[in-house]
Amino acid sequence: MSLNDENSEKISAKAILSGLSGENQERKIIVLDETDSTNNEAKKLAAEGAPHGTAVIADSQTSGRGRFDRRFVSPAGKGLYMSVIVRPEFDIKFAPMITSAAAVAAAIAVEELCGCEVQIKWVNDLYLNGKKISGILTESAISTNGKSLDYVVIGIGINIRSINDELDDELKLRASSIEDETGNIPDKNALCAAVLKNLDIWLEKIENRSYITEYRQREFLTGKRITAESGGKILSGTAVGIDRNASLMVELPNGEIISLNSGEANLLKK
Ligand code: BTN
Repeated sequence: MSLNDENSEKISAKAILSGLSGENQERKIIVLDETDSTNNEAKKLAAEGAPHGTAVIADSQTSGRGRFDRRFVSPAGKGLYMSVIVRPEFDIKFAPMITSAAAVAAAIAVEELCGCEVQIKWVNDLYLNGKKISGILTESAISTNGKSLDYVVIGIGINIRSINDELDDELKLRASSIEDETGNIPDKNALCAAVLKNLDIWLEKIENRSYITEYRQREFLTGKRITAESGGKILSGTAVGIDRNASLMVELPNGEIISLNSGEANLLKK
């Protein structure tokens, strides 16, 4: 674990690369003070042909985005906001599993730096002590023949320092930061390097589905009463596990078990 000082606070491509080894040190890293969204930057670069592994990291985002067009609060000096361009060689049928594999990679990176136990709330949120500290937004482009993935941009936002001042009372109940939950402030460059290294490791384990074991071990909703939206309908039931496609299995009140392959599920309020 490393604590921030004035020097390590600043994101630098050199510092990130020094935390990587082998081929990873050849990676293209673009560091920005501020941008609207690192996903937007990365998508532009990918469309212009940027190579696999290119990463865009910003100190702040003016329009950080989450899933379902939600805002991702991204103030300067508070978090790690990064997007990585991936050009998968695997079959397009595995595309829906990229976000959950990225969640495993990000969770393990935070654990390595903080020595804490991170949970993953299906599909893509990282939790510490029952509160969200990170989210992942994956955006893909399909090649012109429609049969393979041209590129995928994996956008990861991790709240490192307290963002309590930025959140309304309702969000404060659900969102937090590594600092608030563990008392630790991991070095941003080291955390970024750990995420990049783990993305390489865990995206490789999509085709044989071996990352799913790590996902299951950390999944937050399993065993709990939840509510979810599926096919435009709201349902409630008990989350009973994660299947081999990383879908959430839910037991409905009539005993039927269904698999949700996309959407969002939340704890059922008592
Ligand atoms: C979510 O919580 O639904 C996903 C949040 C993803 C936020 C990250 S921050 C880096 C990248 N740029 C964005 O605009 N979004 C992602």
